Amino acid sequence: MRPIRMAVLGAADIARRRMLPAMASVPEIEPVVVASRDPDRAAALAGEYGLGAERSYEAVLRRDDLDAVYLPLPNALHFPWAERALEAGLHVLVEKPLTTSRDHTARLQLLAGGRGLVLMEAMMFVCHRQHEQVRALMAGLGTPLAFAAAFTVPPRPGADIRYRPDLGGGALLDTGVYPLRAAQHLLGPDLRVAAAVLRHDRALGVDVGGEALLLSPDGVTAHLEFGLDRPYRCRYEISGTAGRLLLDRAFTPPPGLAPTALLTDPAGAVTKLPLAADDQFAALLRRFARAVRAGRAPAEDVEASLAQARLLHDLREAARRVTV
Ligand SMILES: NC(=O)c1ccc[n+]([C@@H]2O[C@H](COP(=O)([O-])OP(=O)(O)OC[C@H]3O[C@@H](n4cnc5c(N)ncnc54)[C@H](OP(=O)(O)O)[C@@H]3O)[C@@H](O)[C@H]2O)c1
Repeated sequence: MRPIRMAVLGAADIARRRMLPAMASVPEIEPVVVASRDPDRAAALAGEYGLGAERSYEAVLRRDDLDAVYLPLPNALHFPWAERALEAGLHVLVEKPLTTSRDHTARLQLLAGGRGLVLMEAMMFVCHRQHEQVRALMAGLGTPLAFAAAFTVPPRPGADIRYRPDLGGGALLDTGVYPLRAAQHLLGPDLRVAAAVLRHDRALGVDVGGEALLLSPDGVTAHLEFGLDRPYRCRYEISGTAGRLLLDRAFTPPPGLAPTALLTDPAGAVTKLPLAADDQFAALLRRFARAVRAGRAPAEDVEASLAQARLLHDLREAARRVTV
């Protein structure tokens, strides 16, 4: 069976550091061309992998040798370019978050479904095998009581897309989606927002950090912390009546890293438990390729993206804004 032929729209940092190396390692995927608004940037990145280079995203959509595109663009450009790519008959893998609004996400999913095309959000971390092992371990924690997750990073360079309100920047859409999606992944899709705070940077015009408290239908709480304004943290913890599990590097484990879960028993004794190593970018690409061959995205992926977009919407509606 021939591989899925893909283009990359934008010589983005994440494409260079993670996605193109993964594409080159997954036989089911064949990267064909990189497009950039800057021809030199397109040629330089394409040259590293022996790919073609295009000087505009439009030129990619006019080609007839592609099955799919990968969109590592600023968040606000995900919707218009995913829409154009779907209308051009291409399957689409979009960086997270799928779009910046609940309604745009729903519209794109309808468009893709109506055309028999795959639209998937590149939420790689859920494809890492460690979370399946966590699910199995949760049975030993007794009745779940509380979940806490954090993804926070130190300030980025001033010109970063994350500080641009017009490009869909902000900490919630950049880092907040990870703890939020982790809560949905492990506690179920029906979480509600109990409280939220967003720290809004007056000068930048975006939120640079925040917290939220979610509640599941059976009363489990989920505390989320996210930010572009504080030291690095990337973890989640689940507490139950019979124990606690902590997973560090939960969202961005590099390929080959053997993760370790820390299990704490009711008396406070801690056991280190090795989990399976995995390459979550490669795992996502294999999932995408299977979906393209099947002619549709897995229903649970579509529903998870929609549920995530709804919860992000509700969180923003509910949030108290603290101006900093
Ligand atoms: N899943 C993950 O693990 C992960 C990790 C990091 C980031 N991301 C996501 O990936 C996306 C890109 O993030 P990044 O860190 O790679 O950003 P980045 O390095 O700034 O890349 C964004 C790319 O978008 C293109 N672009 C098109 N119009 C633009 C505009 N008006 N201003 C700036 N850039 C524009 C640029 O490509 P050309 O100039 O070459 O055309 C640029 O290289 C975001 O949606 C982010 O949330 C995901």
